[in-house]
Amino acid sequence: MEYIIVANRLPFVIKKDLTFERSPGGLVSGLLTFLKKAKIKKYKWIGWPGKDIDKRKLSQVQAKCQRHKAYPVFIPKKELDRFYNGFCNKTLWPLFHGFQSYAHYDKTFWNAYVSVNQTFCEEVVRFIKEDSVVWVHDYHFMLLPALLRERFPDIMIGFFLHIPFPPPELFMQLPWRKELLEGLLGCDLIGFHAYEYTNNFLRSLSRIFGLEHKMGTLFFQNRYIKADTFPMGIDFELFYKASQQKKIQSLINKIKKQLKDKKVIFSVDRLDYTKGIYNRLLAFEELLKKNEEFREKVVLIMVVVPSREGVEQYQRMKKQLEEKISEINGKFATINWTPVHYYYRSLDFNELVAHYVASDVILVTPLKDGMNLIAKEFVASRRDKKGVLILSEFAGSAKELGEAIIVNPNSIENLREAMESALKMSLEEQAQRIVTMQERLIRYDIIKWGKDFFTTLEKLQKEKDKLKTKIINSRLIKRIKEDFFKAKTRIFFFDYDGTLVPIASKPSLAIPDEELLQLLKHLTTLRNTEIVLISGRRKDFLDTWFGDLGISLVAEHGALIKRPGQDWEAAVPIPEDIKQGVRNIMEMYVDRLPQSFIEEKEFSLVFHYRNADPELASVRVAELIDELLLFTANVEANILLGNKIVEVRPAGVDKGSTARLFLHQKEFEFILGAGDDVTDEDLFKALPDTAHTIKVGVGKSFAKYSAPSYKEIRNLLRSFF
Ligand code: UDP
Ligand code: G6P
Repeated sequence: MEYIIVANRLPFVIKKDLTFERSPGGLVSGLLTFLKKAKIKKYKWIGWPGKDIDKRKLSQVQAKCQRHKAYPVFIPKKELDRFYNGFCNKTLWPLFHGFQSYAHYDKTFWNAYVSVNQTFCEEVVRFIKEDSVVWVHDYHFMLLPALLRERFPDIMIGFFLHIPFPPPELFMQLPWRKELLEGLLGCDLIGFHAYEYTNNFLRSLSRIFGLEHKMGTLFFQNRYIKADTFPMGIDFELFYKASQQKKIQSLINKIKKQLKDKKVIFSVDRLDYTKGIYNRLLAFEELLKKNEEFREKVVLIMVVVPSREGVEQYQRMKKQLEEKISEINGKFATINWTPVHYYYRSLDFNELVAHYVASDVILVTPLKDGMNLIAKEFVASRRDKKGVLILSEFAGSAKELGEAIIVNPNSIENLREAMESALKMSLEEQAQRIVTMQERLIRYDIIKWGKDFFTTLEKLQKEKDKLKTKIINSRLIKRIKEDFFKAKTRIFFFDYDGTLVPIASKPSLAIPDEELLQLLKHLTTLRNTEIVLISGRRKDFLDTWFGDLGISLVAEHGALIKRPGQDWEAAVPIPEDIKQGVRNIMEMYVDRLPQSFIEEKEFSLVFHYRNADPELASVRVAELIDELLLFTANVEANILLGNKIVEVRPAGVDKGSTARLFLHQKEFEFILGAGDDVTDEDLFKALPDTAHTIKVGVGKSFAKYSAPSYKEIRNLLRSFF
């Protein structure tokens, strides 16, 4: 098995003199560490070389890259600008981080995005083999999974988003929201750093496509797709042991010597408006203003790593930061003391760890950040159990590092107070907090992150293989037909809504079309064949449309039976006082969930919520079920969860028990049952092992086979003539 990794950046930037330099950012840092630590040797990394390459040196560059398993993709300059600076960093980046006022919606940016995704698709396709696993990374390539899926229906494709996924209200602002979601749905597995982002993604799918999921798994175009949370970890050991290295130790000593006995507050980030660097400066200024005792006693070492210089917002921000730094230094500096030490460059590993260890406090205060590895690396580096982490509640890592001083970076006051208490925190408390966080980081490190992702992906692949044999296809239809024609006695049980006709927004709208009526009529002409329409519908509806077809009708999920030429037979009725109580509860929820309504049947009450807002419905229906469960705990009534319905009906009767009545009266050599919702599971369970059972739609089922829609059921029926 070979991994094909696709990320915008190769792990290194190729400089003019063709030397390599590590690419910036958490994506490269995390992925490289994972590949190394997990000892993954068979991989290819496809990406952008990070700089314009002289055309005459292309083949030389390619050869050098290949020795490092890297495969550069060259994009024309203008297109790259519209793709990278444009759609990626002026549209998706700000919107996904909640800076919607910075987001540009420009058609030329979008066109470049589509085109670069297509170019990458062509590159990736060259390397794909049957057993390849493609792992696509980040917001630069959200269209790529579907492009690959079109060409390779069976390969494993995973995607990991390294930035937040915004709430649907924000995501909906994108003119190309559908295309991006469809692109991602080409995957088998879509990973996010935090549950919040996974949930936002699933909610967006529900809002935009009406796609439902079960525990993050959804069924789309005959495939299972899973969205799940995998918080990226770090190489804990590497950071924990680093401070013992001689080189790093001497760097630490150097920093400490230079700053003498001053307390050090440290901050290091890429230049980015999402990182909250400016607010940090404002808070530091406040700290010096309000707390004179810290003057000449505290320094802020602020490292800002150059990033995305082609985007105006970043250039503006650099200017703003530098002005503020000069202002603070101008206002407070003395001959012995410069409050802010500012570096506009990146630090190599040794320097970075030395700063982590030499500081008393680290400020990681992004306004929004997918994960933020800096916070984790700082904690892991503190073998001495010292140091205080001030962490924004809006960083993904805050979910795992709850023992940090958690702040809202929008409040300068809150930041200032946090710095004050961090500077005053006792060593004992520092140790307690650091050790607890370290224990958590050891448990879910970078290996666990990657392995979890791949284990989940492999599980999905196995389910996919199983599903392949289950989905009804021409081979299965042939087998069912053979069984049918061999048998002397036959019976069909069909559910109606969703099984023979599509689900309609109101039950009254789902009337049978002529084609269906003809099909059923035809079936009744087959010798020794009984047909049972076993539905949740009321008897009047079934009577009106199917009463004279010569088939058996079962209404209200088994509560009423009508055999051809006979009257309806009643099953156990629901007592009127229970019905009244249930009605009262349901009415309360009709008021609380717009577009829901109650249907009153002879033997049951049904709460319908198909047209209600899916998100609100998921909350309200759960509450309704809770209340109904309480109410029916000691009475002879059952709660049934159907397709967008909650039904309360007499206990002891379901589609299964009614189907058994038919099977007891006669022996059938051929039995087929088809249905689409939970109520049909009772039917599937009740039918003998020899029966052919078909579940229409997504979801786990007791049925042997599954069919994507009612159309396949009709095709099957047609094949009997
Ligand atoms: N980093 C580095 N040198 C620096 C600053 C950062 O090597 O001067 C590395 C750091 O170790 C971390 C990564 O860059 O692994 C930054 O990742 P993070 O998730 O914190 O932020 P991102 O830049 O991806 O938004
Ligand atoms: C974030 C993104 C990465 C990106 C990195 C550096 O971590 O999630 O995809 O590589 O920032 O940004 P850059 O634009 O320089 O690649």
